[in-house]
Amino acid sequence: MSRARIVAGNWKMNKTFLEALHLTNEITSSLDKTLKNTQVVIAPPFVYQHTIGSMLKEFKTWAHLGAQNCHQAEKGAYTGEISADMLTSVGTEYVILGHSERRQQANETAQLLAKKVDTVLSKGMKVIFCCGEPLDIRQAQTHNAYVAQQLNDSLFHLEAAAYENIIIAYEPIWAIGTGMTATPEQAQDMHANIRTLLAEKYGQALANKISILYGGSCNATNAKSLFSQPDIDGGLIGGAALVAQEFINIIKTCEQVVK
Ligand code: PGA
Repeated sequence: MSRARIVAGNWKMNKTFLEALHLTNEITSSLDKTLKNTQVVIAPPFVYQHTIGSMLKEFKTWAHLGAQNCHQAEKGAYTGEISADMLTSVGTEYVILGHSERRQQANETAQLLAKKVDTVLSKGMKVIFCCGEPLDIRQAQTHNAYVAQQLNDSLFHLEAAAYENIIIAYEPIWAIGTGMTATPEQAQDMHANIRTLLAEKYGQALANKISILYGGSCNATNAKSLFSQPDIDGGLIGGAALVAQEFINIIKTCEQVVK
């Protein structure tokens, strides 16, 4: 089953403007004309969206601009917020939603995320929807049910057709930024669980088409063992996306892995 392979770099709150331009240049110049199977998403902070989007245009067959958040409302009196129309007007194609840092630090609830998903999709952008359990849930062995609930609460209100623009990222919270990667088996088990949930809700044909990315301390060393799993279609990369050569090597691994 061939699905879109995707590697997305979530820069979080890192890099100054010049550093951001430099990193983008390194990635695009090194990878241009080398990728056939893999789509790359770069998700810098909001203030660099326009500039980096312009830089990526030349590489649009494989490189795409992503944002790390988006407000649910159309527009209005929301000081400090960014709307979906603002993002599309500067060329943003993907929005990361449901990241555990925003669920925890910005108190984003499942219900709010469902609204954000609707808003982003209604403006024609793609959603990278993050799910994943905290350590105590993993230890209690209830992680499958926990992630099922997250999908149920924020995604499963969608019509099947909407899934053309949905990518799911499984990011166990205990693995994010900790160096404690999920084992390839743990990740594969959860990805298969997510695909089964999609199949139960929308049918196997749709489930087979959805790209499910792994995130959480993924790096150039462990990428191959993760990406060679049958249900892992790429990665959502944090720390390792800030180092050009590391990110490039992860992308090359995704491109070359044989399934
Ligand atoms: P990490 O972050 O790769 O630094 O663990 C992943 C993420 O939060 O998306």
